[in-house]
Amino acid sequence: MTITRSVIKGCGSYLPEKILTNHDLEEMVDTSNEWIFQRSGIKERRIAADNEFTSDMAIKAAKQALENSGYLGDDIDGVIVATTTPDETFPSVAVKVQTTLGTKRGPTFDVQAVCSGFVYALSVADSFIKTGIAKRMLVIGAEKMSSIVDWTDRRTCVLFADGAGAVIIESEENSQGTINDRGIISSHLHANGKHREILKTSGGVSSNGKSGIIEMEGKEVFKYAVKYLSEVVQEVLEYNNIESSQIDWLVPHQANIRIIEGTAKKLNMPMDKVIVTVQKHGNTSAASIPLALAEGVNSGKIKKGDLILIEALGGGLTWGANLIRV
Ligand code: ACO
Repeated sequence: MTITRSVIKGCGSYLPEKILTNHDLEEMVDTSNEWIFQRSGIKERRIAADNEFTSDMAIKAAKQALENSGYLGDDIDGVIVATTTPDETFPSVAVKVQTTLGTKRGPTFDVQAVCSGFVYALSVADSFIKTGIAKRMLVIGAEKMSSIVDWTDRRTCVLFADGAGAVIIESEENSQGTINDRGIISSHLHANGKHREILKTSGGVSSNGKSGIIEMEGKEVFKYAVKYLSEVVQEVLEYNNIESSQIDWLVPHQANIRIIEGTAKKLNMPMDKVIVTVQKHGNTSAASIPLALAEGVNSGKIKKGDLILIEALGGGLTWGANLIRV
C-alpha cells in the first residue's frame, strides 16, 4: 500500500535584534540571573522592536524557509500561522504573509493553540496535504509575546520572548506507510479546558476589549506539562510501535529546561539528542519549535533521514506531538 506523506522541504527562522539578558531583567524587577537560570535554563531572550510586528517576523522566517527549499511564494498552496499574538484581531497574520510572499491560492489562516500552536498547525497542514487540498504548505510559528507580558510581574516576564520559525512541507506520493518514510509519520493532539485558568490572559476582545496580559500559576503548569508531555511521547512510541532509541532527535517546545529534561528522561534519551535553545531564545510560544528545528538543521545536527519527535504544551491546556522523518 502506498500513501501520501508531507515532507519537510526547508526551514527558516528569525529572531529580533534586541537581546534582553537576565542581568537586564535584574534592573527591571526583583529577580536575579541565578534564579532565572536555575528555574528555567534561560540566560537571554530576544525582544521585538516597538514597530516590529508578528507578521514582520513571520515573513522573514518564511522567506528563509522558501530560500532553503528552493521555492517561490507562488509555488505555495496555503499558509498557516500559529500565533497567539497577531498584529490585529483580524485579518490574520497569514494573509499578510501570503500577499507579501506572492502566494496566491489555498487555505490561509491563523491557528491559536498558544505554545502548542506549531504542533497543531503542522498537523492541520499535513491533513490538507494528505486529503489532496494542497500539495505544498507554508507553516509558521510567530509570536510577539513581549506585547502581552506584564513587565512588572517577575513570575512571568523573565520567561517569554519573541521570534518566528517556518517550514515548507510538500506532498510525497508513493510512501510505504511505515516509519521509514520521509515526512510526518503521525500527529497526536490533545486539550483539556478544565485547566484553562492556570495559564491565560487577563482579557480578550469579546470580554473587556483588551488583549490582556499573561497570568500564570507556574507550579501548576509545570506539573501538568511534565504529566501530559510524558503521556503524549509515550503515545507516539506505542502508536508507531517504536522504541525511543529509534528517535534521532527530540525537538521540544522550549519553555523550561527542567520540563525538557523531564521529557527526555521519560524517553530515556540523553540530552545530547535533544535540541535545546531555551537558554538563548526563552519561551517564544508557538515559534519555539520551528526556531529549534531550524537551528538543529542549520547547525548540521539534524540530517536528512533523521527521525525527530516534536512536542509541546501550552495554555488551554493544549498539548501534542508529531513524529517526523526529516
Ligand atoms: N525572580 C525571583 N524570585 C521569583 C521570581 C523571579 N523571576 N518569580 C517568582 N519568584 C519567587 C516567588 O515569588 C516565590 O517566592 P515565595 O516563596 O517568597 O512566595 C518563589 O520564587 C518560588 O516561586 P515558585 O513559583 O514556586 O517557583 P517555581 O520553582 O515553581 O518556578 C517557574 C517558577 C519557573 C515559573 C516554574 O513553575 C515553571 O517553569 N513553570 C512552568 C511555566 C511555564 O513554562 N510556562 C510557560 C507557558 S506553558 C509552556 O510553555 C509549557
